[in-house]
Order: sequence, then C-alpha cells, then structure tokens
Amino acid sequence: MFETLQSQPADKILALMQMYRDDPRDTKIDLGVGVYKDATGLTPVMRAVKAAEQQIWQSQDSKVYTGLIGDPAFSDAMIELVLAGAVPRDTVAAAATPGGTGAVRQAFELIQMARPDARVFVSDPTWPNHLSILKYLGMEVVNYRYFDDESRGVDFDGMIADLSKAHAGDVILLHGCCHNPTGANLNASEWDAVIKVLQETGATPMIDIAYQGFGDGLAEDAAATRKIAAAVPECLIAASCSKNFGIYRERTGLLMAIAADPAARKLNQDTLAFLNRQNYSFPPDHGARIVTTILNDAALREDWMQELEDVRGTMLNLRTQLAGELQRLSGSDRFGFLAQHRGMFSRLGTTPEKVEELRAKHGVYMVSDSRMNIAGLNQQTIPILARAIIDVGI
Ligand code: LMR
Repeated sequence: MFETLQSQPADKILALMQMYRDDPRDTKIDLGVGVYKDATGLTPVMRAVKAAEQQIWQSQDSKVYTGLIGDPAFSDAMIELVLAGAVPRDTVAAAATPGGTGAVRQAFELIQMARPDARVFVSDPTWPNHLSILKYLGMEVVNYRYFDDESRGVDFDGMIADLSKAHAGDVILLHGCCHNPTGANLNASEWDAVIKVLQETGATPMIDIAYQGFGDGLAEDAAATRKIAAAVPECLIAASCSKNFGIYRERTGLLMAIAADPAARKLNQDTLAFLNRQNYSFPPDHGARIVTTILNDAALREDWMQELEDVRGTMLNLRTQLAGELQRLSGSDRFGFLAQHRGMFSRLGTTPEKVEELRAKHGVYMVSDSRMNIAGLNQQTIPILARAIIDVGI
C-alpha cells in the first residue's frame, strides 16, 4: 500500500542541520536551527535544570500516567510565567503538549473543530512549520505583510492594513516576542494598534511565544501577550519551554485557551483534553516536571532567571559586535538593524543565491531566506562571518 505515498517537501531548517553535519570543513559556521549555543559551541543543560532533575530523580517514586492535560501544577506555573495574572485564572483552560510545536498543532486543531472555515492570518514570513502544519490540516492561510525588505524592520502600515481585512471567526497568528524568522518586532504602541484591530475586527488572536526571556527580559517579552489576552474576549497561546529552559528534546510546551468568562472555560478544557487523547493520549511529563520544580522553588527559579539573563546578554552582545564589525568593514550603517533585532534570529535580507554562496564559499550555514541564528556565533566567528558577508556582496 505504501507505494502510493508521495514524497513530502523537506523542512528547510532540518535539511540544513543535516547539510551542516555532512560538511567536512572545520571552519564551517552553523547559523541554522534555533538552538542556543555558548561560546564553545555547546548547548548546555542549565544549572537549575540539572538540580531539578536531581530532585526529581530522588523523590519520584512512580512513572504512572499523569492526566490527559498533564500535571495541573505545570499549567499553573506556566500560566503564571506567561500571563502573570493578566486575565482571571478561572478563564484559562490549558493542556501540556509535546513542545511548542505540539501546542501550535493542538491550537490549529482546536480552531478547526470550532470553526472549520476559519482563515488563519500569518505574518509574511513566519516560522515555516506554521505553514506546513496549516497546509497539512487543510486550513486556509492568509498572509499579512510583516517584514520590510528595505529597513529590515516591520512593515507596520502594511501589517495593519492586511490585518484589518480579518473578521470574527478568523484567527490572527502573532509571535509574542522575538519574531521567527526575522528578529524584527513591534514596539509597545504598535502592539496597541494591533489590539485595536483585534477589537474592531473581532478576529481571535493566537500567540506563539517560544522565546520568552530571549529578547528584552522575561516580563518584557510577555508584555504584549499579557496585554492582548486582557484586551480581547478569547485568545489562544502556544508557549514553549524548549529554549528558555534549554530542554529542547524533552518536548515541553503548554497550550492555553482563554475564554470570555469562567462558564465557557470548561468546554475549552474538555476539548483540549479530548484533543490530547486523540493525538498522543498523555503529554510527556519529564520536561514539564523540571519546569514546575524550577518555577515553584525560589532558589532554583532565581538561578534559572540569572542564567537565562546571561544567555540573553550573550546574544545581545553578539548582535552588537556583528553590527559593529559590519559597519567597520562596509563603512556604512546598513547593518545597524542587526543590533535592533531581538531574540535568536535576524533576517539578513538577501537572496537565496547569496545565502548559497555563503555556504559554498565560506561554509556559513543559514536558512535560505537568510535567517541567521545569532547564538551560533562567537568571538572568533563574528569577524569571519562579517568578512564573508562583505565578500559575497551583501
Ligand atoms: C527553529 O525555528 O529553528 C526552531 O524553532 C526549531 C524548529 O523546530 O524549527
């Protein structure tokens, strides 16, 4: 029977990971998949994660199933981390999911169950897997303008004009912070304008927040999410713990569905449990338990926040240094946007041909849309990358 299968398009981020592994050059630079790396190129296990794992190892006496939505303590801890009381707790339904991608997938399925004809508005560009999952589920996608090729910032007027075409029953997918793949983000007053559009159109926001703590700080990065959730009757939030807790392979995420009032919450909660049961039954627990342990222990939480701040500071420094080096080499300010962008990524804003030239000639690996993982850089590779960028004529 399987001879009828059609081969599927390769995920460009994952294909790049493999190409990098296969490249024998020891001068190669990996700016591909969104994984934090320290100055030595390692993706370390965070101190608080190690300590929490030790506690769990010592105290856990059973691996019996949790519940269909995972351990409620994980939901409570994450709802507090992301929303910090911005909406009444009794309006928030939540379910643990396998990573942020699991939360995104479950959110799309929830939308499809509620409104089979819903259109999902996505930024142009967005994380390629958003598009891939939406296509797989047969959902209608509408692009809204986002990245301005000239300024490498947000095409804010274009974005608002496109979002204004949404209506009640549509969903507007927003990146809560650290936009992936561009690194270009809205400021506070621009977020206010987006809220106004949400209120005027009646469209439902879905916020993907996968990099909380990687941009301007834990609270700052959640500020837009909190404001939106408080300003509209219903909202979906897909949160990931992969990056800010560095527990990528543990697959730890949470989907939150905020209802207009406490009475409407139960149906959302039951539906999230139903969806988990259909797709994988019980969500993975180990990562969720690590996160819960850290967030509920004052000392571990403090240590985690400190290490996350260090990670954030490292990425900001790399941005500033790369922008500075490019300014020195090019004699122009045209790369200043790199220091303005936030999060792990920056879109360089060049053609796939130039990206290919960077790979072939200089062993620099970035996604074909010119998304660079800034955390893939270090003191030694910044000047090499800057010279390569100038050399290929970007
Ligand atoms: C990325 O965008 O590189 C990460 O979110 C990893 C992934 O799964 O694509």
